Amino acid sequence: MKRVKSISQMKEISENWRKEGKKIAFVPTMGFLHEGHLSLVRLGKKLGDKLVVSIFVNPLQFGPAEDFREYPRDLERDAALLEKEGVDVLFCPEAEEMYPPGFQTYVEVAELTKGLCGAYRPGHFKGVTTVVLKLFNIVKPHLAIFGEKDYQQLQVIKRMVKDLNLDVEIVGHPTVREKDGLAMSSRNTYLSEEERESALSLFKALNFAQNLVKEGERDVAVLKKKLKEFIESHPFTKVQYIEFVDPSELTPVEKVEKETLCALAVFVGKARLIDNMLIKP
Ligand code: PAJ
Repeated sequence: MKRVKSISQMKEISENWRKEGKKIAFVPTMGFLHEGHLSLVRLGKKLGDKLVVSIFVNPLQFGPAEDFREYPRDLERDAALLEKEGVDVLFCPEAEEMYPPGFQTYVEVAELTKGLCGAYRPGHFKGVTTVVLKLFNIVKPHLAIFGEKDYQQLQVIKRMVKDLNLDVEIVGHPTVREKDGLAMSSRNTYLSEEERESALSLFKALNFAQNLVKEGERDVAVLKKKLKEFIESHPFTKVQYIEFVDPSELTPVEKVEKETLCALAVFVGKARLIDNMLIKP
């Protein structure tokens, strides 16, 4: 596996692969890799002739009060994991090269970023789309893989690709969970043992929602109230949002009459965790 820091070197490698007719698969990450990331990597290995993984903790997508500084990092461990998976290039640029002085151009997906996490993390998705477009221009992939754990992010990226006519196929990958159902996340490292126990309430709440709907409850106001009570009956938890939205437009629904996305953001201690599930009536 080649480790590349420089933007021009990454471009050159990809240009050469393209000339040779190779299909380039790409998995962008912020590192501190877990099995969720590695499942995306394995899918990339299957779908492409060449596989690039990026690790870049993107300052642009963190708010001033968020965890950019504390975000967990371990490049050597990550590199060893990726090497084992047969990754061709690990691209890990420096923030100084990605955002040199004078940087002032941003990409924004307007409507899809208004609700869910976008409502509580102003500027977050603008930071995500900007860095992802830059990474696409540098890595020049034919396809890129994103996890459904960040469901809104996946929809926003798909929209950007469509609206800007980018020649990249976006592939979604189902959420990878621990045996007990906790969605894997780099931020799970913030959890103490007791907090981790409470963090299970997110996945339990999503299953609770599915059961309530199956039993005939359709009213979103009632569902939200029951889920919030359930989650906050666990110590250290504070619900940020519980939403039921149309799976492609991400607009709120009042009644669960068709397939609906239930999405949650919950603080467990200082960790802000998200999870989601498609609920079928
Ligand atoms: P990061 O949180 O490191 O996630 C990288 C990719 O892994 C994303 O596509 C995310 O959805 C996916 N992923 C994370 N946990 C997962 C899980 N448990 N199951 C399946 N997929 C999972 O998302 C980002 O980084 C950044 O916003 C990024 C797209 C790299 C832009 O900076």
